[in-house]
Amino acid sequence: MTAISLSAIKKSFGTTSVLNGINLDITDGEFLTLVGPSGCGKSTLLRILAGLEAPSSGEVVIGGQTVNAVRPARRNLAMVFQSYALYPHLTVLQNMMTPLKLRDLSLAGRLPLLGPVLARGQYRAIVEQVRETAEILKIDHLLDRKPGQLSGGQRQRAALGRAMVRKPVAFLMDEPLSNLDAALRIHMRSELAELHRSLKTTFVYVTHDQAEALTMSDRMAVMMDGEILQLGAPHTVYNDPQDIRVAEFVGAPRINLLPGSLDNNGCARCGEIVLSRTAAKGVVGSVSIGLRPEHLSLCDKGTPEALSGQVVHKENLGADIYLHVSVLNGSQRLVVRVSPHEGQGASFGQTVHIVREHGQALVFGKDGKRLDLKNADDGKVAEVA
Ligand SMILES: Nc1ncnc2c1ncn2[C@@H]1O[C@H](COP(=O)(O)OP(=O)(O)O)[C@@H](O)[C@H]1O
Ligand SMILES: [Mg+2]
Repeated sequence: MTAISLSAIKKSFGTTSVLNGINLDITDGEFLTLVGPSGCGKSTLLRILAGLEAPSSGEVVIGGQTVNAVRPARRNLAMVFQSYALYPHLTVLQNMMTPLKLRDLSLAGRLPLLGPVLARGQYRAIVEQVRETAEILKIDHLLDRKPGQLSGGQRQRAALGRAMVRKPVAFLMDEPLSNLDAALRIHMRSELAELHRSLKTTFVYVTHDQAEALTMSDRMAVMMDGEILQLGAPHTVYNDPQDIRVAEFVGAPRINLLPGSLDNNGCARCGEIVLSRTAAKGVVGSVSIGLRPEHLSLCDKGTPEALSGQVVHKENLGADIYLHVSVLNGSQRLVVRVSPHEGQGASFGQTVHIVREHGQALVFGKDGKRLDLKNADDGKVAEVA
């Protein structure tokens, strides 16, 4: 079931076009990530969804209802910002109670500044609701503390808790982990994914960090220059990027790209590497051959299709070693992921031989679109411009 639907969303600030016609259907209960480099329009799209920004054109539909003219507060979405925006002078309990108090007071038609106007029963119900939420987030022992007395991760959870108490249709999060240190950020990834599983509420999550998108999402939308280049499950986006920009953006270390060309038989070639059935026969032109570091390995001299080169840098990460190897007469550099065992002998300046894992190359045409066929056995060939 579609929870949120964005159609043909365009946005310009003055003469600058920031979103160029975004179409996106978000399924009820899914964890959807908008990921892309800084400035590509992620926050603008999220703010349009939240109602904090109006689209120049296009339609926002939530729960089957067009909400373009609906105020942010009435969209029943919970926005969690990068800065936690907790009130520093209030305890966690008071912070988390605020949205419910405001709701009940506004329902009663009263302004919150007019003093203690909540009935005692109402107050108790709110405290109970906050306690339940705090238990889910494992911060129930921190309810009497003020934000200044919390760690970064605890503050993060308190801010989430404050958003959760209203039981929103969806959570919108804009780079919520970017203020945390590296270790906590990685820890919070699994906490958020776990939280999503237990809440079963729709999450729309914005990040520039492809690792966050890969590890947490049900689906990720890779954005660049105001467009969605590809939308899909993380493993599909990683293994089957349809555009060279997606292939380069997703994956660390980056995919290796070698310049190649198509021969008359539709084979892509670069040095010793030959990839058969890349394009239709008779289609010629230059291509880029993408090889992920984990799909390359060291081999013996004389292995068919091997590329030879010199080790120019060795990155030792403990569990893995990334060898940077200068190939094709020094014109290109490949990063090869090897095990510590495999890489222990390879030292700076040494000549090594590299072979690719069969069936794992990606070929992109001049326009950056994917050319090769993962399952070429069906006899179909790609159309090449
Ligand atoms: N209120 C604004 N006025 C003018 N330009 C803006 C405004 N908000 C965002 N932009 C521009 O729109 C582009 C996309 O911004 P943003 O959506 O914040 O990108 P992201 O979140 O992907 O980093 C940027 O070039 C930014 O400078
Ligand atoms: Mg942003």
